[in-house]
Order: sequence, then C-alpha cells, then structure tokens
Amino acid sequence: MTYSVVLCGCGAMAKGWLRAVQSTPDLSDTLRIVGLVDLNDNVAQALAAEFDLVDVVIGTDLQTVLEATKADIVFDVVIPAARHAVVTTALAHGCHVLSEKPMANSMEEASDLLRAAAKAQKIHSVVQNRRFISGVRRMRRLVESGAIGDITAIHCDFFIGPHFGGFREKMDNVLLLDMAIHTFDAARYVSGKTPLSVYCLETNPSGSWYAHGASANAVFRFSDDVVFTYRGSWCAEGERTSWESAWRIVGTKGMLTWDGEDVFKASVAGHEDGLLRGFAPIEVPAPSREEETHGHASVIADFLTAIRTGRPPETAGDDNIRSLAMVFGAIESARLGRSVELAA
Ligand SMILES: NC(=O)c1ccc[n+]([C@@H]2O[C@H](COP(=O)([O-])OP(=O)(O)OC[C@H]3O[C@@H](n4cnc5c(N)ncnc54)[C@H](O)[C@@H]3O)[C@@H](O)[C@H]2O)c1
Repeated sequence: MTYSVVLCGCGAMAKGWLRAVQSTPDLSDTLRIVGLVDLNDNVAQALAAEFDLVDVVIGTDLQTVLEATKADIVFDVVIPAARHAVVTTALAHGCHVLSEKPMANSMEEASDLLRAAAKAQKIHSVVQNRRFISGVRRMRRLVESGAIGDITAIHCDFFIGPHFGGFREKMDNVLLLDMAIHTFDAARYVSGKTPLSVYCLETNPSGSWYAHGASANAVFRFSDDVVFTYRGSWCAEGERTSWESAWRIVGTKGMLTWDGEDVFKASVAGHEDGLLRGFAPIEVPAPSREEETHGHASVIADFLTAIRTGRPPETAGDDNIRSLAMVFGAIESARLGRSVELAA
C-alpha cells in the first residue's frame, strides 16, 4: 500500500525529511508526495524543483491543498508557532500527522493536540530524531541489560558555541527550547524513568551572542530516585562537546560514559583490596536493531509501521509530551527560582 503525503513547511528542515525519504527505498516505495505547502510560494516551488517532485499540488494554505489532494498523511515541518494550526487542520481532514519537534509551543497547545488526535483517531507523532541514533540505542541496551545494575543517575554536559545568526540569536530560552529537548528526551528514553520535578538555573552568560538563555543548568528528579543533571551552554567557545552531549550513567554496580561520538567506556567494580576496588571493563554491545539508528528516516519508518499496524509509535504525541514538559518545567523553574513538579 502507498500513502499520499502533503508536506507543510518547505524550509531548511524539509530538505532533511525529503532526503531521508528519497534515500530509503522502503520509504520512497511507500510514500508519494502529492502536495507542498508554504506561506512563501517560491520556497515551495524551489523545493519541488530541487527534489524533482512532479505532479504535486503547491499552495500557501494547507486546508486548500488537503482538499485538492485528499492526502493520507501530513508531514508538519513548519516553525513551532504555526504548529498547532497545522496539526489541527490536518487531523480534522482525517490525516495522520508527523510533526517536527517541538510538538507544540506551550503545554496547553500540546494537550489540545492530544485531544484532537484522540478525537480524530489518527496517529500523531513527533520527530525526536536524536533518540534514533546508534549511541543512544547502545546506552539504552546496556542499561536494560542490567550490566551496571539499577541506574541511579545520568549526567549530561553540552558545551558548544555555534554562531547560527537568524532567529535563534533573538529568541527567549534559546538553549532549552531549541536544543535541550533532544538530550532531555534521550535521558528519559535511556533511563526508562518518568520525570517528576526540576530545578533549573538559566542564564545568558557574559560574552553570549544570543539575546536570552544561552545556558541552562537543570537538575531533574526521575521516578525511582534517579537524578538527571544537564549542564549546557550554546555560547561556549573552545574545544566543544558532541551535539549529543557527553554522558555519564551511574548504576549500582558500575558506570557507563559516552563522549557523544565514538567512545564508550563501561565498567563495574574491580577486585583490588583497600580504599578503592579498581574497575573491570565490560563490553557495550551495538544496538540490537540497526534499522532504528538512522535519525529522521527511522522516525518516519516507525510512524508508518504505526499506521499499518495500529501500535503506538515510539515518539507518539501522548508520550513525547513528557519530554516537552521537561523543557517547559525547566523554563518555569528558572523563572520562579524554585523547583517545579512536572505534570504531563
Ligand atoms: N529535528 C531536528 O534536528 C531539527 C533541526 C532543525 C530544525 N528542526 C525543527 O524543524 C522545524 C522547522 O525548522 P526550519 O529550520 O526548517 O525552519 P525554516 O524557517 O527554515 O522553515 C520553516 C518554513 O515553514 C514555513 N511556514 C511557517 N508557517 C507556515 C504555515 N502556517 N503554513 C505553511 N508554511 C509555513 C515558512 O515559510 C518556512 O519556509 C522547527 O520546528 C524546528 O525546531 C528540527
């Protein structure tokens, strides 16, 4: 069976989606792009030309293009402020929806989208592509195996100094809203725990070239007394960490570190006498399912499997809202100067 797709929002990220579809035979065989929508018609025309999309309806209004195409699926790649209107329009047309992160611009909008998806009885999922990578899957596999015991803490460091220009340098809460959700979501996934509360100190450090919130230091309480700490800055010059963060996972028997690139180190207690026991390295096996490590392509494949089988996608809106709650909880905590409970 093939599915017809309208892609809404034809900017920078839309190219990543189309590249993922066109370079993955299972996806390009199953999905037919029948419509492109962007407020800027020229941008949509240029995208169609770049990706050789012929026989597509191009327009500036999603509703009109959906009426013309009778699409099964909407790919939502618009800016966050436009997301609520796009997703509700698509669901009201009986389409399944896959949205870029973040799933909404506020917790109220996110809850409303969950209600709309439940009412429409359609799949509503979110692109949380950075959990579909090899390193994150490897960490989860090791944690699940019990090799380092029950986990008690996850610590992540994220220190990079990108000079993006554009909207990011003007927006509020830039690190928490635009980037930290990837690490927050991965921590939730790797631990398998539920985030319960957060205390966050958010600053715009001296020398920052952003308007607001280029740095955040957050301490989360997860279920089963697991602690997750995040120390991040987007205005940190010098030798940077990985975009995936540098990780340390502490368990009752041992620890796992990942530099966010290629280096994994896992070990349990050694057998030395005296103050310290030393350590004994253990193996960190590769992910059990290689097909789950291709970022956007893997998220889209998971979304299609959900449509075909009816089982919930891994990043379904009603699960992803817990990662969104971590972001908005951290922002709220920083504003109030105290710990806040996470209600999702
Ligand atoms: N997952 C990732 O790694 C990742 C990376 C970058 C961006 N993103 C996300 O992708 C989304 C898009 O980001 P981008 O970098 O492509 O932005 P962009 O500004 O390059 O493109 C967004 C496009 O949406 C269009 N648009 C806005 N409102 C619209 C509406 N109501 N109807 C139709 N089109 C509309 C704009 O005209 C623009 O062309 C954002 O949510 C962003 O957070 C995700």
